[in-house]
Amino acid sequence: MTFRQARWDEPLIWERPSSDDDPHPIGDIPGIPASLRRKQPLDWPEISELEVVRHYTRLSQMNFGIDTSAYPLGSCTMKYNPKVHETLARRRHATDIHPSQPVESLQGELELLWRLERALTRITGMTEVSVQAAAGAHGEFAALLMIRAHLQERGELGRRTEVILPDTAHGTNPASAAMAGFQTREIPSKDGCVDPEALRAAVSDRTAAFMLTNPNTAGLFEPDIAEIDEIVHGAGGLLYYDGANLNAILGVTSPGRMGFDVAHLNLHKTFSTPHGGGGPGAGALAAGDTLAPYLPVPRIVKRGRKFALDYDRPKSIGKIKFAFGNFGLDLRAYAFILAHGEDGLRHIAHRSVLNANYLGKRLGTVLPRPFRPLVKHEFLLSGSPLKERGVRTLDLAKRLLDEGIHAPTIYFPSLVDEALMIEFPETESRAELDRFVEAFTRCVRDTPENLHGAPHSLSVRRVDEVRAAREPILSRKDLQAAAKLEAAPPDAPRP
Ligand SMILES: Cc1ncc(COP(=O)(O)O)c(C=O)c1O
Repeated sequence: MTFRQARWDEPLIWERPSSDDDPHPIGDIPGIPASLRRKQPLDWPEISELEVVRHYTRLSQMNFGIDTSAYPLGSCTMKYNPKVHETLARRRHATDIHPSQPVESLQGELELLWRLERALTRITGMTEVSVQAAAGAHGEFAALLMIRAHLQERGELGRRTEVILPDTAHGTNPASAAMAGFQTREIPSKDGCVDPEALRAAVSDRTAAFMLTNPNTAGLFEPDIAEIDEIVHGAGGLLYYDGANLNAILGVTSPGRMGFDVAHLNLHKTFSTPHGGGGPGAGALAAGDTLAPYLPVPRIVKRGRKFALDYDRPKSIGKIKFAFGNFGLDLRAYAFILAHGEDGLRHIAHRSVLNANYLGKRLGTVLPRPFRPLVKHEFLLSGSPLKERGVRTLDLAKRLLDEGIHAPTIYFPSLVDEALMIEFPETESRAELDRFVEAFTRCVRDTPENLHGAPHSLSVRRVDEVRAAREPILSRKDLQAAAKLEAAPPDAPRP
C-alpha cells in the first residue's frame, strides 16, 4: 500500500476572503437594541457552507487519524470509534439537554449514567463509580483529593504526606499528587516491574498512597501485586489504580480483585470514545468501601422507579465538574459496553494481548526488547542500537509517517533507552499488524540520511520543535515575518 499525503496550501479560516461580496450589515438585526449592536462589522470573513466543508476536509487530508490507518500510540489505546456511537451522541437527547433542567425532564439521561456507573462498578470490581471526571488526569486529581479527605478524617493528614510511584508511572500521576498537596517519592523498577523490596523500604507512617498502573507502561502485569497490596496497606497507605491500561484485563481481572482502594478509568481509551489532541475525555472514578463515601456529588440514585441527584453525602469532596460529566462520551462508552456484553469485553482483552505478543515477537528480531517477552496489551522496543549509525528513535518515528502510519509513543517510559512503546488494540487486524512489521523493518533499515530528513512525503516537513515553541508561527502574518527574517543577513537585529 503506497501512501501519498495531500498537500494543500490552505490558509487559516480567518484569513480566507469572504465568499459573499455583500456581507450582511451588522447593525440592523431586528429585536437587538441599538445600544447593544456592534458599531463596526465583525472582522471575520463570511464564508459559505461549501467553503467551510472544503476547508476542513482539506485539513483532514493533511492529518493522521484512526479512520485512515493504525495509530499505535502505546498507553493511549487508540481504537476505532464505531460510527453508530456518533449517530447516538448526535441525537437530541444528548445534544439538547441543559444541566439546569429539572431532574424530572432528565430521567432517560440519568438512567443511562446510572446504568453506566453500575456496569463500570462490575467491570472494576469496586463498590461505587462516578462518571463526573472529564479526563484521566482529572480522575487522578479527584481520587487524590478523596484520599486526602479520608486521611484528614483519620487525623493522619499532617503526617501522611507522601505519595509513592514507580519510575514507570505516567507523568500525570506525580503531577496530580503534587497538585493535591502531596510530596512524591519515586522508586526504581526491577526488570520493568515494581521491586517489592524497594517499595518495602520506601513505605512508612508518612505514606499516603501508592499509585500504580497495572499492566504497567512497559506492558507488564505486576507479578507481585498481592505483595504490593500487603506492603502498602500494612503501612497504613492507600492503593491507587491508574486504569489507562484496563483494556488488557477487561473481564479477566479487576482493580477490585487486586486490592486497590480507588481507580480512574479512561473511558476514551478502553471504551472507545474519541480522543487525541487533548480531548474530549471521560475519566470515571471507581472507589472501594473505604473511599466510596468521598466520591464527588451529586450521586445519581434510583428512588423507586425515578432517578434523582443525591447531594446528601457529607464526606464527599464535592462537585468536580459542571453538569454530570461529558455526557456524549459517557453515552458512547455505554453503547460500547452494551454492544460487547461480558464475553465481548473479555474477548477485547484477549485479542489486544494477542496482538501485542504477535507484534512483539516479530519486531523483537528487528530491535531489542527490554524485559520479559510475554506482555499484556503493549510492548517496548529500544532504538539504542541505531545510535551507532547516528539515528535516534525520533528519526524512526518521523520516518514511519512516510509509510502512512502514525508513530508509536517514544521516549517513554524513561527507564528504557530510546524507548518506543507500541500498542495495537483489538480493533486492528492481522493484515494491519503485518503491514506495520514490513513498514517498521523498512524504516529501521533505511539510510541515516533518509531517516534524518523524514518525513519526506507529508504536507508538513519536520519542524524544529524548540524554535516552534520559542517563535511560534500562528498566522500568515507571522509566516511572512519569519520569511523576512530568514532572508535577512545573520547579523541583522532580531525582534
Ligand atoms: C498511564 C496513563 N495514566 C494517565 C493518563 C492521563 O489520562 P488523560 O490523558 O485522559 O488525562 C494517561 C494518558 O495517556 C496514561 O497513559
